[in-house]
Amino acid sequence: MTDMIVPLVDVRKRAFVPSIEPSAASRQNTLGDTRHRRLHDLRISVTDRCNFRCVYCMPKEVFNNDYPYLKHDELLSFEEITKLAKAFVSLGVEKLRLTGGEPLLRKNVETLIGMLAELRTPAGQPVDLTLTTNASLLAKKARALKAAGLDRITVSLDAMDDTIFKKMNDVDYSVEQVLEGLDAAAAEGFNNIKVNMVVKKGWNEDQVVPMARYFKNSPHIVRFIEYMDVGTSNGWKLDEVVPSKEVLSKIHSEVSPLVSLEPNYQGEVAQRWKYADGSNEVGVISSVTQAFCSSCTRARLSTQGQLYTCLFASQGHDFKALLRGSVATMSDSDGDEALRNAVANVWGARSDRYSEIRTAASFPSDRIEMSYIGG
Ligand code: GTP
Ligand code: 5AD
Ligand code: SF4
Ligand code: SF4
Repeated sequence: MTDMIVPLVDVRKRAFVPSIEPSAASRQNTLGDTRHRRLHDLRISVTDRCNFRCVYCMPKEVFNNDYPYLKHDELLSFEEITKLAKAFVSLGVEKLRLTGGEPLLRKNVETLIGMLAELRTPAGQPVDLTLTTNASLLAKKARALKAAGLDRITVSLDAMDDTIFKKMNDVDYSVEQVLEGLDAAAAEGFNNIKVNMVVKKGWNEDQVVPMARYFKNSPHIVRFIEYMDVGTSNGWKLDEVVPSKEVLSKIHSEVSPLVSLEPNYQGEVAQRWKYADGSNEVGVISSVTQAFCSSCTRARLSTQGQLYTCLFASQGHDFKALLRGSVATMSDSDGDEALRNAVANVWGARSDRYSEIRTAASFPSDRIEMSYIGG
């Protein structure tokens, strides 16, 4: 492998401890960053491990037996995650997404889901609780996830053709097994299941039409994602990106005509389209060709408790140090207040818009991996 870049510096260790002092930002009722973007969505990575080796995410050459995965005591506990999530929800977060690595590999993840399902927004509403999975453990876990209070599921699937899918996941996992997981989730009562396909040129672009055809008459919504330059280990090249425009035009001409739909909510990453015959909708996520940083309302919490305000960040904010340091010595209510201040201070100072400035010289070459902070 000639074009893999193995980072010499462990970017995961680079983090500031945020200030817990009240500030102008922490006194605001509605939290906005320096570009007036609110904080709406928190993605929580619960493990940095995965049983797949998708070529665009955890290539085998880098994520092998020598890879320094986090040790158990480095991970945030469920109590710590819930305490932090509570602070975020009190500041306006309405959606929590569990990610990984593969989140279903985290032991007893349904217990965490049960704890997060208890959280309430300042208006007294439950949060939208969702999870992204490769579906390998879904058939086994769907019932427990539903019972614990998980609202929605997103499943990754990159091809309908078994040979191509196995080449992409690189662990010989079959399409059939993913479809079984999807069926099990639907049978347990999960609605609005989404299926994410990352499109990588030379690998699976000929699977766009078969995927669109297969899911057109299913209850699930498929979304085609432009291959992104997250992290440094996937050896990303711009010419491996298939622009969403091409994806849409293929579906429009080879599957069935499409008409555009309004977003479900402000800041939705997917552009929504529906078949003119009313059968289903499809989405495209165009983070390379049409960056959506101006409406980005997402924060990401890593498995070891570092907060990233951008998928392409090279530095986190060390909330674990707070949780196990100053906050641990405080009363519950003082600790909650300190964490709220810390979140507000970090978000208030945020100015990230990396996808918009991807081509600029200032773009960092030591970015965090997606398997570490989650999709
Ligand atoms: P819904 O809650 O169903 O609306 O999900 P979502 O639209 O937030 O999408 P999801 O979490 O499934 O994200 C799908 C993919 O979009 C991710 O795996 C990433 O590839 C990409 N993506 C999501 N958020 C961001 C982001 O903030 N920046 C960039 N550059 N890409 C993102
Ligand atoms: N480009 C785009 N999306 C990616 N994901 C992981 N790596 C990449 C990448 N390089 C997203 C996919 C996958 C989810 C777990 O993470 O959407 O389904
Ligand atoms: Fe695992 Fe998902 Fe990354 Fe594939 S994309 S290696 S399934 S975390
Ligand atoms: Fe948000 Fe960063 Fe993605 Fe832009 S590149 S949409 S700021 S996560």
